[in-house]
Amino acid sequence: MRRGMDVISALQFSRSDIEEFFTVVEEIRRRVESEGRLELARGRTLFTAFFEPSTRTRLSFQFAMIKLGGSVVDLGPEEVTSRAKGESPEDTLRTVDSYNPDVIVVRHWEPGFAARAAEICRAPVINAGDGYNEHPTQALLDAYTIWRMLGGIDGVTVGLMGDLKYSRTIPSLIYTLSNFKDITVYFISPPQLRPREEVLKVLDQRGVRYEFTRNLSEVISRLDVLYVTRLQRERMNQDEYERLKGSYTISLNMLSRHERIPLIMHPLPRTWELATDVDQLPQAVYFEQARNGLYVRMGLLKIILGV
Ligand code: NCD
Repeated sequence: MRRGMDVISALQFSRSDIEEFFTVVEEIRRRVESEGRLELARGRTLFTAFFEPSTRTRLSFQFAMIKLGGSVVDLGPEEVTSRAKGESPEDTLRTVDSYNPDVIVVRHWEPGFAARAAEICRAPVINAGDGYNEHPTQALLDAYTIWRMLGGIDGVTVGLMGDLKYSRTIPSLIYTLSNFKDITVYFISPPQLRPREEVLKVLDQRGVRYEFTRNLSEVISRLDVLYVTRLQRERMNQDEYERLKGSYTISLNMLSRHERIPLIMHPLPRTWELATDVDQLPQAVYFEQARNGLYVRMGLLKIILGV
């Protein structure tokens, strides 16, 4: 990881990148906890351009930049921009890039959009989600959460449950984990929601062990982490959604039947797949995970800005 880099795919990071990055994040965390707001990014500007809805990713990047002492400009919702007049996202980015932001964070519904944005823009571009493709900064915060909670990532067994076909957090997370030793992945989903071939191919190349199951109960006792995702309604047609709605879910009652409950993670937002009664379990770390997003994004901005 280096000053001025674009962050487009989780595949661009090696094990040593990730481990060095975690130490930067830990240091930032310590400093924020004692000093509150830092002054590292004074005079620098972050531009956030979200062409798809977002709460955590957009706001944690904005908070991260402000806590580093920098400024934030947000594109705002469609109604108040020329998008409403039919301007392309490419033209919008080209224009704002000419105002010289120091970093651009972009989210868009089209797979591959972030890579294109990075070609258009002079400023470093961070992919905050490009369609079903990838969400590399979510993967960094997910891996950081696992590393912090379990004391390391080598040897970890992870169950990935839900919409593994269209959730972009899934490829990015497994690409990140694949840098570590002795990783086992269980894909827990209806057959229609298994990961796409191109994703499995990367796991094959990287020698990650994986298995498919429909049934969480079969594998739960082997898991260190259960990572759940919502059905990506916006990426499928209405019929497909109605057919698959409710096809997987976890609740306190269901988890309590098992002797050993793994860490429960979720990128959020949740819908019906994760009952709110699970929140009371000490293993439920999804809000902690979201909070880690702040420190992880501060660390990333610090490196990209070279401050
Ligand atoms: C995820 C996303 O946008 O891909 N949200 C997030 O960034 N935490 C997950 C989702 O929307 O399901």
